Order: sequence, then C-alpha cells, then structure tokens
Amino acid sequence: MYEAYLADYEDLGPKVIDEVKKYLSRTSGSREIFEKVSDYIPYGVNSNQRYYPPYPLYFKNAKGSRIWDVDDNEYLDFNMGYGALIVGHAHPILVKELKKQVEKGILYTYPHELLCELSELVVDLFDIDMFRISNSGSEAIMFAIRLARAYTGRDVIIKVEGTYHGTYDHVLISTWPYRGLAGPRKMPVSVLESMGVPDVVEDLVRIVPYNDTETLEDILDEEGDDVAALIIEPVMMNAGIIKPMNNYLKRIRKLTKEYDIVLIFDEIKTGMRNGPRTAAQEYRVDPDIITLAKAVGGGAPISIIGGKEEIMSLIGPSESMRERGVVHAGTYNANPFSLRSLYVTLKEILTREAYKPLIKFNSMLKNAYEEMFKQYDIEAYVETYGVSGAIIFSKHKVKNFREILDTNMDLWYPYYFGMLNNGIIPMATGPEEMWTISVQHTEEDLERHIEYLDYAMRLVAETQEYIREEWE
Ligand SMILES: Cc1ncc(COP(=O)(O)O)c(C=O)c1O
Repeated sequence: MYEAYLADYEDLGPKVIDEVKKYLSRTSGSREIFEKVSDYIPYGVNSNQRYYPPYPLYFKNAKGSRIWDVDDNEYLDFNMGYGALIVGHAHPILVKELKKQVEKGILYTYPHELLCELSELVVDLFDIDMFRISNSGSEAIMFAIRLARAYTGRDVIIKVEGTYHGTYDHVLISTWPYRGLAGPRKMPVSVLESMGVPDVVEDLVRIVPYNDTETLEDILDEEGDDVAALIIEPVMMNAGIIKPMNNYLKRIRKLTKEYDIVLIFDEIKTGMRNGPRTAAQEYRVDPDIITLAKAVGGGAPISIIGGKEEIMSLIGPSESMRERGVVHAGTYNANPFSLRSLYVTLKEILTREAYKPLIKFNSMLKNAYEEMFKQYDIEAYVETYGVSGAIIFSKHKVKNFREILDTNMDLWYPYYFGMLNNGIIPMATGPEEMWTISVQHTEEDLERHIEYLDYAMRLVAETQEYIREEWE
C-alpha cells in the first residue's frame, strides 16, 4: 500500500522517497481521513489546489502563527490561507468582534448599518469611486468581466498567459497550459483548462505574454474594437512572483485607453500585500476596475469589485424590459459576519504600521534562502512582493509564464516535504505558490523557519544532483 503512495515521487530519487516515507509515518491520521473521504469527495478535498500526492494533511485547529494537524503535529504556518491571512490565525481582535457578531446573527439578507462607515473606508483606502461586495475572488472576477462587457458592448477579453483568476469559465483559459498546446511564445493560443467549459468561451479569449506589449499591440491592431477588457494581475502571483518590468503597467494602460478597453486589475492577491493599498496605487496606474479578496477579509469569505463610477453605476435592477442593469446579486453578499471581519481587518489590524516589521522579516527570509542557494549550489532565487516571497528555481530572472515553465519546479518537492517533516509549512501548496508572513509571526518564528532551511536545502541540492545524473 505504501508503494502506491510513493509512485509519484520515484523520478526524484531515493532522498525524496525517504522524505515522503517520513511524511507517511507522521501522518497516519490524515491518511485515514483521506482514504475514507475520498470515496465521497473527489481527491478528498474541496478545492483542487489542496490535493497533492501522497495525500493532503487534514487540520483541526489554528492560532496565531501555528496550525495543528489531526495527528497533533504542530506546524509554523507560512501558507496563511494562500495569503488571505495576513492577520494570522484567530487574531484576538477578530475573535472578540466576530464572537459578538455571531451572537447578533450572521446572515440578514438585508443591508447592514456597517456599510455606512465601511464604504468610506473602502473607497478612500483603494482609491475607487464605487464598489460592490461578493463572497469570493472568482465571483468578483465574473462580475468585473460582465461589467466590462456591458460598458463596452463587446465580448472579447484579453488575459495574460499563466495567470489564474479563479474558477469562472471565461478565465479558466491558459492558466497553466501544457507547452505542447500553448502555441508560440510570442503568440500564445488560448487553451481550455477544464472539462466542461464550452469551446465558445475559448473563442472569446485572447492570450498575451506578461511583460510584453508587442503581442498585445498586434492583437489590438487586428481586433481592438471588439475587445471589452484586458484582465491582468499587476504583479503575477500565481506562477511564483513575477514583477512588471520597463513600465509595462503604464504601457498597457495607455494602449487600453487608445482602444476604449476596460482595464481590470485582479488585485485578489496583490491587494493589501505590500502595505494597505493596491498594486495600482503603488505603481501609479489607474485601472478602470479592480477586484479584491483574500487579505482584505481577514480570513472571511468576502470580495470587492470596485472602480470608476461610469462603469460601476451600470449595476442595478432592470428599469424596464429594454433597459436592463448589470446583474450583481448573492444571498451571502455583504453578510454581517464577513462585513465585520473586513471592517475590523482594514481599520484595526492591517494598518500601515503593522506592515513595517513584516517587510523586514520578508527580506530576512529572502536573504537566508539566497545564502543557502549559494552554499549548496542550487540554481534558484527568491522574488518577494510585500509580505510574500516565492522561490524561482532558475539562474535567470524570469519575466513571464513560459520562462517559469523552463525552471526546475521538481526541486520544490524535496524542499516542501523537508520543511513539513520539521514542523514548518514553508509556503502555500504547490511550486507556483509563495509564503506569506502575518502580523502574528514573530522574529523567533522566522528564525525557526531559517534554521530548518538548511535541512531542506541539502535535500534540494541532492535532488538537483540526482536529476542531473539520471535525466541529463
Ligand atoms: C489572482 C487571483 N484571482 C482570483 C482568484 C480566485 O479567488 P477565489 O479562490 O477566492 O475564488 C485567486 C485565487 O487564488 C487568485 O489568486
């Protein structure tokens, strides 16, 4: 039975197999749950990203910077809910405020009085005219695209190759396309990423490489007048971290303006990541719509679609059969629980002051990783953005998704299992992911992370060597 669990890692050599065996021996409780629930729940998880072989860990409790699995293993958590938890787990202010809210009810399906204070806070903080609230990033993206199409009366959207914008059909295109299907580097083709998405959707989406305006210009030359929106993460944060170069964001703003195309910044990861602001504010670019989720909610399910008044004000009930508004609705939208969590998070916890030590911690971590890479001759560097950091297993600075595909992502596995087996979740699940430092991490937590890096990086170096010898 163990053998079946090891099969996925055989190509990475005996050291990785030993590490996965260690994982198996520390996590029998998780294995039991996995074996039971995967009969009923595909892959035993409720979000595809949560599954990894041999099986994911199952957790029961979390507090501060720590989280405990069902086998009572304690982990220092640097995943932090894929970055949704810059507040950390069970922040004492949130616990107090949310307990009070639970007693007052968590779902009214009527507007809540808190909207009054909250609306001013949100528009001032993120520099937007108007906004609406939904429950998840995916929903916010769906509404943002609907708004752009309504505003322009056009259907085509442009997205960047390798960006993930959630599970809405129209963006489940070229999120992580196989190289064989993706077309030439300079002229990527759109690739459906899920069964069940109709082919017509693929025809409505054009794909451009990040950090490149040439391909974008070619597409706009040909069919700019049919394009409703360009949707982009201002800093790519789902293929490691890739920063915009050479005024890229300003250049796409200029081009989209020329063709009256709505520029949507997906700030679901970038928003509140480098201080209490958006990447749009930081890079001084003025998109037409932004979407926010994750960190803004302090862990509660909530998202924001915000932007220019002339676009946002299209949302509304139909005035007549002919003049329909843009539909935005949802039973759980702006429920009192999530609203309270967002309000307390933005107003009291994720303040400008709160970020200062975290940014310092993050550069401590980056330096420690890069020293290790040097010491063990590992071809890798760390890219950071605000309170997050990602390992890119490459000698060269990467500037788009195709270059990420050229990196040695297999080296992530010895690193990840090596850290997990020492009680540290070093980052979110998957080599394309990153770590997040929360306001509840301490300097000692960072030191512990760094202490065990040595163990993990030795494993990485040995795996790098094994791969070179066996595969090349
Ligand atoms: C950039 C980006 N956009 C959208 C989403 C979708 O958000 P959600 O998972 O809340 O639906 C994600 C989720 O990871 C994301 O990283």
